[in-house]
Amino acid sequence: MKTKYETLVIVGAQWGDEGKGKMTDVFAQKSDIVVRFAGGDNAGHIINFEGQKHKVTIVPSGIFNPKVISIIGNGCVINLKNLVNEYNQLKLTGVKLGKLLISDRAHLILPFHLEIDAAQEDKRGADKIGTTKKGIGPTYQDKVNRSGIRIGEIKLPNFKERLKASVDEKNEILTKIYNSNKLEFDKIYNEIINSYEQIKDCIIDTGEFLDREINAGKKVLFEGAQGVLLDIDHGTYPFVTSSNTSANNVATGCGISNKQVNKVYGVVKAYNTRVGAGAFPTELLNEIGDGIRERGHEYGSNTGRPRRVGWFDAAALRYAKRVGGLDEIFVTLLDVLSGIDELNICVDYKLNGKIIQSVPANNEDYLKVEPIYLTLKGWQEDITKVKSFKELPPKAQEYLTLIEKYGNIKLAGFSVGPDRKQTIIY
Ligand code: GDP
Ligand code: IMO
Ligand code: MG
Repeated sequence: MKTKYETLVIVGAQWGDEGKGKMTDVFAQKSDIVVRFAGGDNAGHIINFEGQKHKVTIVPSGIFNPKVISIIGNGCVINLKNLVNEYNQLKLTGVKLGKLLISDRAHLILPFHLEIDAAQEDKRGADKIGTTKKGIGPTYQDKVNRSGIRIGEIKLPNFKERLKASVDEKNEILTKIYNSNKLEFDKIYNEIINSYEQIKDCIIDTGEFLDREINAGKKVLFEGAQGVLLDIDHGTYPFVTSSNTSANNVATGCGISNKQVNKVYGVVKAYNTRVGAGAFPTELLNEIGDGIRERGHEYGSNTGRPRRVGWFDAAALRYAKRVGGLDEIFVTLLDVLSGIDELNICVDYKLNGKIIQSVPANNEDYLKVEPIYLTLKGWQEDITKVKSFKELPPKAQEYLTLIEKYGNIKLAGFSVGPDRKQTIIY
């Protein structure tokens, strides 16, 4: 049966940084619209093509196709100053960019959110989450508390008063609870207005726009940020981000029907990484992990923090498939595993002596989980020029086949280097 809508979702299926930006950019070459549906500039995506390396945090990864309309959906949170700076920086690269639209319902990340994020982390001490300090948690907190300010409200006559009330309230919290300094209202207000003037024409009801375009048969790609294991409900709470990161949030985060979402691709690395705190059953605290970190340049693109590295976790992938509604997966950074003599894949979790079928709900139990490994020989060859599955060394083929088998999910392709062209799609 031919599907009615031609929509596709690309989300991270681990703890973020799986190469979603790269895969979104690849698929954006065949799309009409690319939409971010959650998160903010806590994301950091590196995209490489034509010898140039670009980074986006809140601008959708479809922006590098001038024919694509890139949309920041209502489920996102926006640091206006950072958005405008990022867009202006991208313009300076000389690459022809597509049009940008922003949902009038997206919430604003304001300077006090960043201050509170940092102060909360300090206060957590040894229990810190390791947030990106981009103000994400406090912004979503205000949204859920119904005290947030949406980007579409800046034009209202009472905006200045609303902002003033927020700044006053947050200044009390900052000074009385966190012992921090007060923020200056005029500076915050002027910065917002200055940024707003530069992008105000991009702000529309993007849900209404998208619905119309999808019904007209346009190819729409929904781009996730973070990863399923960082989801506020189904991730490794409390070491998660503050939004729903999986494809299940696409409809809510964009203002369309979930019936308009056709297919979901999860992106996984050929190993696992995690940046920030929280249990990580397959973590490699040894030279093999260090080697993968160096070869894979596993340092946060946003914060510069070294990413924690571990063996591929198929048990976590099965969980991500269930809670994140994944149909198929792409495996990225396969090239990074070249040259390792023996590889391990975690095929099951054991907790208190018993095999478990899920990721435990709390970090205390997750810390106790023992990974059960399948060990196989690695491959030595450089695979960065490979163009098909058949060209891969037999051991690399076997590795991908085992990921498919133990992840209980079909492979849609793989990636052997950061460049747009180093991508094999079946
Ligand atoms: P995202 O947040 O999911 O978009 O991922 P990041 O961009 O934060 O991190 C992925 C990193 O891996 C980036 O530096 C990419 O350029 C790089 N990358 C993506 N795919 C591959 C690949 O197949 N091989 C290698 N070596 N690097 C890749
Ligand atoms: P992309 O889209 C990896 C992690 C942080 C921290 C937790 C909460 O590039 O994959 P937050 O600032 O969101 O409150 O931090 O989530 N985190 C990410 N880790 N990639 C990301 O984005 C992340 N965004 C947030 O490190 O552990
Ligand atoms: Mg990233």
